[in-house]
Amino acid sequence: MSQIEGVYREVIEKSEWVAIATAGPDGPHLAGCWTSYALKLGIENDEIIFPAGSYEKTAENLRHDPRVQLLFATGAVARASGQGQGCTVTGTGTLETSGPRADKAKAQFPWARGALVIKVTGLRTHLS
Ligand SMILES: Cc1cc2nc3c(=O)[nH]c(=O)nc-3n(C[C@H](O)[C@H](O)[C@H](O)COP(=O)(O)O)c2cc1C
Repeated sequence: MSQIEGVYREVIEKSEWVAIATAGPDGPHLAGCWTSYALKLGIENDEIIFPAGSYEKTAENLRHDPRVQLLFATGAVARASGQGQGCTVTGTGTLETSGPRADKAKAQFPWARGALVIKVTGLRTHLS
């Protein structure tokens, strides 16, 4: 069963963009993506795929340390004590420039050189 269900899926689907954090020898590194791009490629089987136009530094970091965190947030999800919620996704990432995922990313986004593939291992919300 997929972990990306319930409030986690709702936050992801209603967010506008996502921050992609990796760790490198120079310290933390952030990249971004529009959530709609990941939704277009399909979020299933605990896998999130981003079309890679560049993500050069992100890919380099992942080669040395595959751990990645994503932050999605939206004001459009209600919680017990108010409005708005965020979701951190923890997992591992690889930049694939060939294979079915890369082909799908290139077909949907002609500017893409491949797919940044995140295997999700955990999720948490930010606001109670
Ligand atoms: C909202 C937003 C959406 C973005 N979408 C993409 C995207 O889909 N693909 C991509 O390669 N870069 C995208 N970027 C740009 C990268 O985050 C940025 O160019 C990054 O610095 C390049 O990756 P690197 O620093 O790992 O080399 C986006 C940036 C933002 C702020």
